[in-house]
Amino acid sequence: MTTSVNADDDVDRLLTIYQFGVEEVLTKITILRREFEQIHDYSPIEHVRSRLKSKESLRAKMDRLGCEDTVPAIRATIRDIAGIRVTCSFVADVYWIAQMLERQPDLEVLQVKDYIASPKPNGYRSLHVIVQVPVFLSDTTETVPVELQIRTIAQDFWASTEHKLNYKYGRELSPQVISELDDAARLAADLDERMGRLREEIRPHELGH
Ligand code: GTP
Ligand code: MG
Repeated sequence: MTTSVNADDDVDRLLTIYQFGVEEVLTKITILRREFEQIHDYSPIEHVRSRLKSKESLRAKMDRLGCEDTVPAIRATIRDIAGIRVTCSFVADVYWIAQMLERQPDLEVLQVKDYIASPKPNGYRSLHVIVQVPVFLSDTTETVPVELQIRTIAQDFWASTEHKLNYKYGRELSPQVISELDDAARLAADLDERMGRLREEIRPHELGH
């Protein structure tokens, strides 16, 4: 018999396991951050936020993707049930965090989308990495995909503002607004570049990454 997600218990169990997966990855990020702070004199991370997809938006995405109503199908199809957003000071820190996580033997990288090297047509910039983390339960080990969005403060400012504009005005932004948004994204990228250059000028020897 297949496990139908109509049974609320199954979804709850699934979401609980994904929450454990988020906590595992959050711990890894905290360790990297604290160790970095001890060695260098600043934090590479400004803030970290995590979220689990709500049952409603999980259902909406399943419908959109034509995902079968079973736990195995959901696990295989929807890989952003667990999400962590890491905001960094500098672009170099974004790649550093990703690299340090990718190197960890218990994490498997399922997907990397580098929207910093190749921004989306609207100007969106961010590094997306989906990692799979093992969660050790009393009688079994479950592996959980966690979607990481790693970006700078400037990229995050742009993305959250663009999201608000889209949410407020639907998908009907005028070509002029779209072009202005792209322009703003370029300005944010310029700012990141200037800040990165400044940092290198100020502390060229202390940066091990
Ligand atoms: P989803 O089905 O939405 O998860 O998209 P996808 O599978 O094509 O993945 P992608 O990596 O492109 O985007 C995943 C997530 O990144 C989204 O849910 C958003 O949180 C964020 N994102 C992607 N594109 C944009 C964008 O243009 N603007 C903003 N504000 N956020 C974006
Ligand atoms: Mg998503």
